[in-house]
Amino acid sequence: MSTHIRSEPAQKRARTLEPMCGIVGYVGSRPSQDILLAGLARLEYRGYDSAGIAVIDDAGSLGMRKKAGKLRALRDSLADAALADGHTGIGHTRWATHGGPTDANAHPHLADDDRLALIHNGIIENFAALRAELEAEGTTFRSETDTEVAAALLGHEFRRTGNLAEAFRAVVNRLEGAFTLLAVHQDEPGLVVAARRNSPLVIGLGEGENFLGSDVAAFVEHTRHALAVGEDEIVTITPSAVTVTDFAGNVVEPVPFEVSWDPASAEKGGWPSFMAKEVAEQPEAVANTIRGRVHDGAVVIPELEGSDDLFRGIDRVIITACGTASYAAMVGKYALEQWARVPVDVELAHEFRYRDPVIGANTLVVSISQSGETMDTLMAVKYANERGARTLSICNTQGATIPRESDAVVYTHAGPEVAVASTKAFVAQITALLLLGLHAGRVRGSVSAADAAEAVAELEALPAKIATVLSEEQAHVTQLGGWMADTRSVLFLGRHVGYPIALEGALKLKEISYIHAEGFAAGELKHGPIALIEPGQPVFVLVPSPRHSALLHAKVVSNIQEIRARGARVIVVAEEGDAAVLPFADEVIRIPLAGALFEPLLAVVPLQIFAMALATAKGLDVDQPRNLAKSVTVE
Ligand code: G6P
Repeated sequence: MSTHIRSEPAQKRARTLEPMCGIVGYVGSRPSQDILLAGLARLEYRGYDSAGIAVIDDAGSLGMRKKAGKLRALRDSLADAALADGHTGIGHTRWATHGGPTDANAHPHLADDDRLALIHNGIIENFAALRAELEAEGTTFRSETDTEVAAALLGHEFRRTGNLAEAFRAVVNRLEGAFTLLAVHQDEPGLVVAARRNSPLVIGLGEGENFLGSDVAAFVEHTRHALAVGEDEIVTITPSAVTVTDFAGNVVEPVPFEVSWDPASAEKGGWPSFMAKEVAEQPEAVANTIRGRVHDGAVVIPELEGSDDLFRGIDRVIITACGTASYAAMVGKYALEQWARVPVDVELAHEFRYRDPVIGANTLVVSISQSGETMDTLMAVKYANERGARTLSICNTQGATIPRESDAVVYTHAGPEVAVASTKAFVAQITALLLLGLHAGRVRGSVSAADAAEAVAELEALPAKIATVLSEEQAHVTQLGGWMADTRSVLFLGRHVGYPIALEGALKLKEISYIHAEGFAAGELKHGPIALIEPGQPVFVLVPSPRHSALLHAKVVSNIQEIRARGARVIVVAEEGDAAVLPFADEVIRIPLAGALFEPLLAVVPLQIFAMALATAKGLDVDQPRNLAKSVTVE
């Protein structure tokens, strides 16, 4: 028997310094500082421990400012003493794991006598060797970052070639690891050069101006015309032209796409936080994800046209994801097994590829990712491809890397999600999985037309039901969260599809309120977790509808009695009219009646509101919780 552990560059990675960040670039006729700062504000979800910009001013000099702290610190610094403005620039927002979030470690990094500025997202794995080589030649460094090594190399190559694009080609061929690099040089105003390997980069096409960004949020307020950049490609943008080549210099044709996000939807509007706004947008997120995928009472996903043979031929599905998306995956397992009658396993992406999973040509690996950039999930998809599986991604971000690496993609249409804690993307992911289950069930002939029509009616009723939960329970649950601001631990119990929702409820609380929270399968309670129950311990219990399974309902009600008898403070989430829970509940949160597989989309909403209310009552920043980043682009 072989224990199959794939070779792992983790030792090198453990020493690296620049894991993930947001980047933006601009050339055009407008003042670049405002455009860069607005783009960084949209990308702050990718990292927010320091930020910086570099601008080539109209006199042809390079100006640079960078500050540790959130983007506000950079804004304040620029408000105190502005940089001379120009029309070419780059901007960066950073999230560090190693190497402190200091002014010195912030980007941009300068080289060539401060005439060149460079920003980076990713990890340069061979930076130590390169740095040693450069230091031996007399280069001195001002930061601890791997990025400054790339800047220094680029400076050397620019001096040799006098051409930024050519210098880039020489540099990227010496770098190992993952990087998106953007650079400007004051001797070439009106030009931003970029390169990409294993880190995201998209191009925005304007009229007399062009943009670069980690994702389309960076420029969606200016243009919806975009180009996807492939792996190992170099991009140059000027106000009037965009050129893409491979690392050898051969011109390649980038793939154009239109961004459908409404720019206004990436703004906070009147809401106190992005998270509050995104929770409220959930009816729309679900409705938009269903839109165009239901025809005459049946689910037909246009993006999957031509893949009927694939769906008929698969004998196994593996759904892989991280974090919240992995809980959506768990709900998806119930739906796919019920409707498509195919065995489904759910695997955390970072566990999946470090063993020797049984994958073949008849395995469909479905990945789920809001950002489409989560490195663990991306690597799982690449691994599945290498092993000959068919890959399908469920993703919320157009032009992202994971969908591009997959054979097919079903986009969720939740719109941009900015708050780190995922809410509307989660309900959209479950919706997409329900659609996928019904689509596959139809193609495989395993779901009857009548059952499909009933499920479609349930799906289409969901947005209004989510709106009902929001309007009926928001005030009540917000009050509960406020009362419980001093609580040190909360438990969540669920069964069947309520189990992943219990896990998600606990994750939301951990992420934004920093208190201990755990989700359990209610049936597991007596096998250990019940020992945690002591007088006053708050426990949320997700009660399945008695209409679907009287047995399951009765079991959960008896679980409630067990914990109540030990002094737990029981907060029940139950459907309208379920009176069996009343004698044992301290609080009852009501959700409208729905089919068993559809309840998660309703039951999760009060848990999101609760986490938000508790975190707010503790005075915490719900949008940007400590230590977390929205899109984790390192393993
Ligand atoms: C991070 C975020 C989580 C998110 C997970 C997966 O850990 O903090 O909120 O669920 O990544 O992100 P993805 O973009 O792949 O859905």
